Amino acid sequence: MTESKFDVSVKLTSGSAEDQSAVDVLILGLPSNNSLSASLRDLDELGNGWLTRLVNSGQLRGSRCEMTLLGVPSEIGPKMLLVVGLGESAATRSDAYEMTAAAIRSLLDRPRGRIEVRLAESIADEQHDAIVAGAVTACEGQALYRSEPSLKLPTEIAFPGISQKQLERGQTIGDCINQARRMVNEPPAVLYPESFANEVKTLFSDKETTVEIWDEHRLAEEQCRAILAVGAGSSRPPRLVIMSHLCGGDEPPIVLVGKGVTFDSGGLSLKPSDAMIDMKCDMAGAATVVGVMHALARLGIRRNVIGFCGLAENMVSGTSYKLGDVIKTRSGKTIEILNTDAEGRVVLADTLDVAKDYQPKAIVDLATLTGACMVALGRDVVGAMTNDDSLLEEIEAAASSEGELLWQLPMFKHYDEQVKSKVADIKNIGDGRWGGAITAAKFLENFVDDLPWVHLDIAGPAFADQPKPHRDAGATGVMVRTLLRWIEG
Ligand code: BES
Ligand code: MN
Ligand code: ZN
Repeated sequence: MTESKFDVSVKLTSGSAEDQSAVDVLILGLPSNNSLSASLRDLDELGNGWLTRLVNSGQLRGSRCEMTLLGVPSEIGPKMLLVVGLGESAATRSDAYEMTAAAIRSLLDRPRGRIEVRLAESIADEQHDAIVAGAVTACEGQALYRSEPSLKLPTEIAFPGISQKQLERGQTIGDCINQARRMVNEPPAVLYPESFANEVKTLFSDKETTVEIWDEHRLAEEQCRAILAVGAGSSRPPRLVIMSHLCGGDEPPIVLVGKGVTFDSGGLSLKPSDAMIDMKCDMAGAATVVGVMHALARLGIRRNVIGFCGLAENMVSGTSYKLGDVIKTRSGKTIEILNTDAEGRVVLADTLDVAKDYQPKAIVDLATLTGACMVALGRDVVGAMTNDDSLLEEIEAAASSEGELLWQLPMFKHYDEQVKSKVADIKNIGDGRWGGAITAAKFLENFVDDLPWVHLDIAGPAFADQPKPHRDAGATGVMVRTLLRWIEG
């Protein structure tokens, strides 16, 4: 069921090998109370209690995410055994996802044949898709351009005890997370507004989702002067992508809006080199929207959802937008540019305004918007701001069930003063750097009117400097799982 060039190339199957000696590595779970699962008991008996001895001597432990790789004599069956610590309590969805991903990732340092993941017996049925999704995302990393691949993919991963339905669902979710990650990990010379838009077009060419692309001429006709201003300094013109997945009958749509700055140099308010290094990741919000829309299409989710990507490259040249410029946005509100590096909110101003035309029942935007959000919450936590607490509660519930970390920041009226401009309606920075994540959200609030809206600042968690046991450094695909869960309801 290979569906796009981003899909993992490993063969995934649901059955167990008849001949266990054909299994290179068998992955099994061990809880921290050390009670052996049925499969571990069988292997223990075949080896005259070897596993019990290892457990009793404290060599084999079930503490959460502890990994023990054991060589296995040929009469017992599989060539190697990887025992994964399941910890104390029943595995949650995020445990299932992260433990499997960490287990698989630990095996990709050398070529392997068939890997059998027998974790289904230790994890509840409704979590089985997360096992598969974790395995799939473990197989994708940031080393897209190494001559020698750094992850050595196995020939097959089998998931005995997982239904075909859960297997396909998990594979789809994993593929869609990977696809968002891959777009973010691509260098900016490869992925720029036009190529991003073309990629989306191809991705949905055989799907019911319709894809509309506004080029620079259409953007001008549509009065999207804010998007055009941010892209004005680049030789790569901006784009707006609209993906419509309308499978939910008469209900008003949910809209997802992503910041797609394919490279953020800061513009004339130029970033120092160190701060610019990772700025290919500044389209992660848009990539997340594409990933979620793709999952909706492939899973055939019966809801109305429209995804928008505001795409521009923020560059320096004689045609760049300038400090002091005043832009009349598509909505009619005027914005004064006091820092060209606060460009994401400028792109989103017009993108949100277009989204509003579709009379949505809820708007969720995703953006690598502010360094200030990382100062407030650290690298791993999404900042959430809203004009509708009950909508945010729904998204919080979805995030917590998927184990993605999200925390609300306040939107007191008190902050409104900070985005007022002396010459235009609003200005694109607050007064000084304090509360920068919130003043950015206050700016955006001007473009959603009273529609229920949640803004997710993913500047920290979208892109990682360091690897974790369950995933490579680089793009993370954060919020794909949460949004999918929320939309599925
Ligand atoms: N894309 C950046 C925010 C960012 C920083 C994302 C680090 C990921 C990692 C955004 O466009 C930006 O430059 N924001 C400025 C805003 C400031 C000029 C008001 C910032 O955070 O410094
Ligand atoms: Mn910027
Ligand atoms: Zn930016």
